[in-house]
Amino acid sequence: MKFETYEKTKYTAHLPDKNGHVHYTPEETSVWHDLLVRQEKIVAPRACDDYLQGLKILNLSKDEVPQCKELSKSLMRVSGWTVVTVPALISADEFFTLLSRKIFPVASFVRFREEIDYLQEPDIFHEVFGHCPMLTNPTYADFMERYGILALKAHSEDRILLARLYWFTVEFGLINTKKGLRIYGGGILSSKNETIYALESPTPQRLPFNGLEALRTPYRIDIMQPVYFVINNFSELYQLLDGNIQDLLDQATRLGEYPPLFAA
Ligand SMILES: [Fe+2]
Repeated sequence: MKFETYEKTKYTAHLPDKNGHVHYTPEETSVWHDLLVRQEKIVAPRACDDYLQGLKILNLSKDEVPQCKELSKSLMRVSGWTVVTVPALISADEFFTLLSRKIFPVASFVRFREEIDYLQEPDIFHEVFGHCPMLTNPTYADFMERYGILALKAHSEDRILLARLYWFTVEFGLINTKKGLRIYGGGILSSKNETIYALESPTPQRLPFNGLEALRTPYRIDIMQPVYFVINNFSELYQLLDGNIQDLLDQATRLGEYPPLFAA
């Protein structure tokens, strides 16, 4: 989920039937199949082990778009999370409320084939393939829950800063591992081009993760990222929110944002 405020979307999410089952069209099923087959190969040598382990736990079918009921069963067993079908776009309040209740929202539509490589709205491939594997990791899942609780009660200026934290971790985070630099951010892992670019391009900056720096760094949603923050473990994220995050938010407000590394 990218909780940006989109004015409108050309996508319409499917409503579940009375049994909670969402019926996808043959074309959507075919796009899902092609996305999954392609992206599994691309992330295999580039995603962190926690993500790859999560992908194994979810055991996504290539032939059917996943149903929230099945995903929830898998997540509940390992981290106590569930997923729920939501419309294409939901408000920040709804989003944070769900996270605070250990529920991850999944928009029930698949991108059009002409947008197979990039779309702004988060579709089910982004939500499920990008984010759900990491929700099998209990430390990471606890961080997400805590983020939801914190963002829900934050005032609007702090929410803008917290959105940056989400962006540079949950969406576009990198992690140092014994095997080298790897990806855990769902915005990267659901994108064919950015999965390769984030690790292999000489262009972007890859900075050691620092909460205050992340809160002060502006971003744009529609470009390859000019900067990534690299964590060393997931406890780092949890501890950031467990510590005095309000102090950091106040400092970030006082010091102001950095000049953007991208054209406006
Ligand atoms: Fe997302």
